[in-house]
Amino acid sequence: MKVIRDPQKLNSALKRSKQNNSIGFVPTMGALHAGHLSLIREAVKDNKLVVVSIFVNPAQFGPKEDLKKYPRALKKDIGFCRNLGVDFIFLPDNKIMYPQGYSTFVNVEGLYSVLCGASRPGHFRGVATVVAKLLNIVQPDVLYLGQKDAQQAVIIARMIKDLNFPVKVKVMPTLRENDGLALSSRNIYLKKDERAKAVVLSKALFLAKALVDNGQRNAAVIIRRMKQLILKNKLAKIDYIAIVDLNNLRPLVRISENCLIALAVRIAKVRLIDNIIINYA
Ligand code: PAJ
Repeated sequence: MKVIRDPQKLNSALKRSKQNNSIGFVPTMGALHAGHLSLIREAVKDNKLVVVSIFVNPAQFGPKEDLKKYPRALKKDIGFCRNLGVDFIFLPDNKIMYPQGYSTFVNVEGLYSVLCGASRPGHFRGVATVVAKLLNIVQPDVLYLGQKDAQQAVIIARMIKDLNFPVKVKVMPTLRENDGLALSSRNIYLKKDERAKAVVLSKALFLAKALVDNGQRNAAVIIRRMKQLILKNKLAKIDYIAIVDLNNLRPLVRISENCLIALAVRIAKVRLIDNIIINYA
């Protein structure tokens, strides 16, 4: 495995190794957990060459967000990647990705300002921009993303289609702790009592699924029941609960095919997100 910091060096190393080998690419911000590793495993299974990028992308953090304290665990991350059979780790720094004079950003209209975008202005512009850059640098055949960040996956898939990036997207299921909490690099911010309470996000989603399984199709009713469950918890503050069409993220009045139920909740100071997809006609 090689760790490369320079885009041009990565590009020429990949060109040399490619010769009919498909390239799988897993972009990350590091502090790798089992969720990330499931994406990497899938990429290793599907492709001859696998590239993992580790870059805490400043462009996707708001001025009051956790860029500085975002968890970093480079040594451990490199060990995980080596053990899983990754071929290249791309490890650029801020100056390489955003040199002085950097001026180009990607906005995926209509999708970036809803759900998480409403309370994180600029976030998805930063995500789309860095992923566009990484796709141009790595030029993979398949891009691996997690369903955990559902809106991100929808936005990136749209950008890939709209801008004709020659890459397939594979979205992998959300990995959860035994109690249902979705794995996230940010879970380590939770204090012990907060960690126990954080299970309420997945509980609310599973409640929604149970309601739908029992015939409920009214989105407002489902959202109300989820709210009631979450607000029993004094540490929890709801940012949003939304039931939307997975293709365009527009709110749904009734549950339908390709329906995304997504939420963001603050447990004390930690903002957590989770979602499920429901497929009922
Ligand atoms: P990061 O949060 O490090 O996540 C990297 C990838 O891992 C994303 O595709 C994310 O959806 C996936 N992932 C995170 N938690 C997961 C879980 N519990 N189960 C399955 N997959 C999970 O998302 C980003 O980084 C950045 O925005 C990035 C795309 C790298 C652009 O900077």
